[in-house]
Amino acid sequence: MNLCDAQSEVKLLLSKVKPSELHKLFNWIRTSDELDELLSDNRKVILRHISAELRAALPLDAMLPSESTAYCKMQQRSRPTVHVDSFLYNEDQVDSLCEEGIFSRSYCLTCGSYKTAPLDFISHSFSISELQFLFENVLPDLSGRLLVDVGSRLGAVLYGAHVFSSASQLVGVELSEEFVKLQNDIIRKYQLTDRIQVLHSDVCLQDALLQNADVLIMNNVFEFFMEPREQVRCVCVFRAWRFIMENFRKKGSLLVTIPSLQESLSTIQQEVLQPSWVEELPVDYDVYLDRDTDPDALRQIHLYRVI
Ligand SMILES: C[S@@+](CC[C@H](N)C(=O)[O-])C[C@H]1O[C@@H](n2cnc3c(N)ncnc32)[C@H](O)[C@@H]1O
Repeated sequence: MNLCDAQSEVKLLLSKVKPSELHKLFNWIRTSDELDELLSDNRKVILRHISAELRAALPLDAMLPSESTAYCKMQQRSRPTVHVDSFLYNEDQVDSLCEEGIFSRSYCLTCGSYKTAPLDFISHSFSISELQFLFENVLPDLSGRLLVDVGSRLGAVLYGAHVFSSASQLVGVELSEEFVKLQNDIIRKYQLTDRIQVLHSDVCLQDALLQNADVLIMNNVFEFFMEPREQVRCVCVFRAWRFIMENFRKKGSLLVTIPSLQESLSTIQQEVLQPSWVEELPVDYDVYLDRDTDPDALRQIHLYRVI
């Protein structure tokens, strides 16, 4: 049944409901887990299995002791910030951890008092719903295309692309050797080697790969993971972006950034952005995925086309 037929059926059904019960029915549609379960399919189940496997292999904050720069950047933020990886923990799981006292959504303003303020959460990965949105609503059909995830970390984008898209080649590039090993363990165990490959490398050494890519995903790659000293960081980020702009040039290829290019480049000299490099394409953010989806997180996803 297509959308139009389904809408007619729903209207017909609603016209048969007792008027006094109608508002209860709408409330049930809005809040019930039973309907969200209908939105889940085998593809999401596979991703949830992978997520559980990674949760068991990583500490609660899913960060490595070697990620001192990212820890440092988080401490430099104006409000206390903790890392909760959205691919590993959804809202219900965070709630459960809070109930068990393992986790907290707030911090004490005056130690020992009840005066608390909410903690800022950041995630270094896409959630499962964001991945579904990215591949089903943002990007077009990727049949026969090469997708590159810059800074593939836990591999969330690669697993998401494997289940939600028809891209023929999915390549992750990741600086951290430990994360590369973790991704390779998952790829082997879940038999995803037919389309996924992970390179242990700095993206700035991958000119040929960028020149061949049809889709480039850049989720907060340089924001937290480069040199904490501001001046040195600016130079490194500037060089990295310039390298990407010089090599990711195939006309019509697609770039996805989180946050927007403008925001990503706001901390460095803007002239790095060659005005004729890409154009922004519209994205329809008005989509219901499930109760867990944060609409503000979806709005951070920006799509560009190389011109
Ligand atoms: C925010 S995570 C992105 C995770 C993943 N792409 C996703 O969306 O779920 C950024 C990752 O980029 C990696 N990274 C940072 N600079 C890099 C570089 N120059 N080359 C390759 N990886 C890099 C970091 O180690 C980190 O794991």
